[in-house]
Amino acid sequence: MKKTTILGGVAFIAAAVAAGMLWQNGDTSADDVADNQILTSQPPGAADAAAVARGKYIAIAGDCVACHTAPESKNAFAGGYSISTPFGGIFASNITPDKETGIGNWTERDFYRAVRHGKGKEGENLYPAMPYNAYVKVSDRDMHDLWMYMRSVKPVRYAVPETNLGFPYNIRLAMMGWNLLFFKNSGFKADLSRSAEWNRGAYLVEGLEHCGACHTPKNLLGGDRDAWLQGSNLSEWHAPDITANSYTGIGGWSEQQIVDYLKLGSNHVAVASGPMAEAVTNSTQHLSDGDLRAIAVYLKSQPDSGTRKPQPLAADDSNMKMGANVYSANCTACHNSDGKGIPNLATSLAGNPALQAEDASSIISTILQGGRGAVTQGNPTSGAMPAFAWKLSDEQVAAAATYLRNSWGNAASAVKPEEVAGKRKVLNLPEQMPAH
Ligand code: HEC
Ligand code: HEC
Ligand code: HEC
Repeated sequence: MKKTTILGGVAFIAAAVAAGMLWQNGDTSADDVADNQILTSQPPGAADAAAVARGKYIAIAGDCVACHTAPESKNAFAGGYSISTPFGGIFASNITPDKETGIGNWTERDFYRAVRHGKGKEGENLYPAMPYNAYVKVSDRDMHDLWMYMRSVKPVRYAVPETNLGFPYNIRLAMMGWNLLFFKNSGFKADLSRSAEWNRGAYLVEGLEHCGACHTPKNLLGGDRDAWLQGSNLSEWHAPDITANSYTGIGGWSEQQIVDYLKLGSNHVAVASGPMAEAVTNSTQHLSDGDLRAIAVYLKSQPDSGTRKPQPLAADDSNMKMGANVYSANCTACHNSDGKGIPNLATSLAGNPALQAEDASSIISTILQGGRGAVTQGNPTSGAMPAFAWKLSDEQVAAAATYLRNSWGNAASAVKPEEVAGKRKVLNLPEQMPAH
């Protein structure tokens, strides 16, 4: 055989493999199990009550409301909330059963294709701000119940503003490339070497609850890096390492502590605030105890992120001294001189894994703008922390953060004043007020 034909053959096989990959990646045949006649605008009947109730639980677990409802709006699922990405804002759609502005004209199959494969009604690619790369793992049965629930939702006429990203992100077809690189087109497969409880936890964390959307670090294109649940920057916030690592992760937490955090919004160490407070309030507090336990079992089994505790900074370091002064004057009323805080109200700063992460974003943002713990049925009077942006300088905030990261057994890198200045800008907060 001549060399050219061999090469030609190789090229042909390569092209065939590439075409096969493209086809497999865009394959939505798993959604063909769904009905393609009845429209979402047709309300469910009395006989469907059980499916609708199950579907409501699925919608809560998937936290669809979080993105698909505009802030302060009473119109659940009517869209209009802009999700900020490094590429620009992406508006979440109206997914109420309104025929003109929502998904009233969609069939069950159209709905499955959007949720599990990121395809719009006409087959166009959705942006991965819609977490279909997680929802691809949702089972047929849960999809069916979810759709039945969506049919029971009040239709709202509201046209969501059009998403307009800059070139080349405005080209929806370009998402085909993104999908090829980062979308794993396969449903949930149980790991038979693990317990049913572990698999239930995996199904929820990897699929419906899309915990990795926030907790897994991203590459420049917004795809998951190969560091599942090892912690990720969300601009003002840091979604911490939630692997079994016992320094920055939750390896030192018992299953019960994880369950409490997700159900009450706090345990004796941490208090959920910011984006996690929303996730707890909207979603995890409503999960059954069995499901929360399953999530805890799964998280506790996740491979250690590998972070290792350094030596803490010495107490006579000049930043540490400044930090100790700032702390004793401003923080001890709630967090105590031993850093232990007030159980279930004010975060324990001592022995708190998330506060020792390399990324100190949440600490800086909280000191600058204050905060509020998650409000839940189990803990309705959550604690609040005042803002210090007006009171403390960038140096003082950095010193306080450095101090709490290196006291009471904690150890982590020092926080620089420039980082605090940067956060002030992002958060649009004023400078320290001049003393009179
Ligand atoms: C993290 C935010 C986020 C969550 C959570 C989320 N979505 Fe979305 N969804 C979006 C965004 C953003 C879009 C629009 C994407 C685009 O314009 O390409 C979208 C689009 C859709 C669409 C397509 C609508 C259309 O008109 O094209 C459907 C259907 C949908 N989502 C259903 C759901 C359901 C059901 C859930 C819960 C299981 C859910 N979404 C959870 C962000 C989210
Ligand atoms: C919208 C983004 C987002 C989603 C989705 C999300 N988290 Fe979080 N999570 C965060 C942020 C941010 C924090 C830090 C909160 C703070 O500092 O108070 C956090 C904190 C946590 C913590 C506390 C860790 C510690 O050391 O204090 C746990 C545990 C956790 N999340 C688990 C989960 C699980 C399990 C899921 C899925 C069910 C999930 N998160 C979904 C953003 C998110
Ligand atoms: C009036 C009580 C109060 C005071 C004073 C206070 N805090 Fe807090 N702090 C809280 C509460 C409540 C929370 C939990 C809610 C939250 O995270 O917003 C918290 C949370 C925190 C967190 C955790 C942030 C995260 O990632 O979730 C840090 C760090 C922190 N405080 C540092 C400080 C520092 C430093 C000071 C002094 C400059 C201070 N606090 C003063 C009540 C207080």
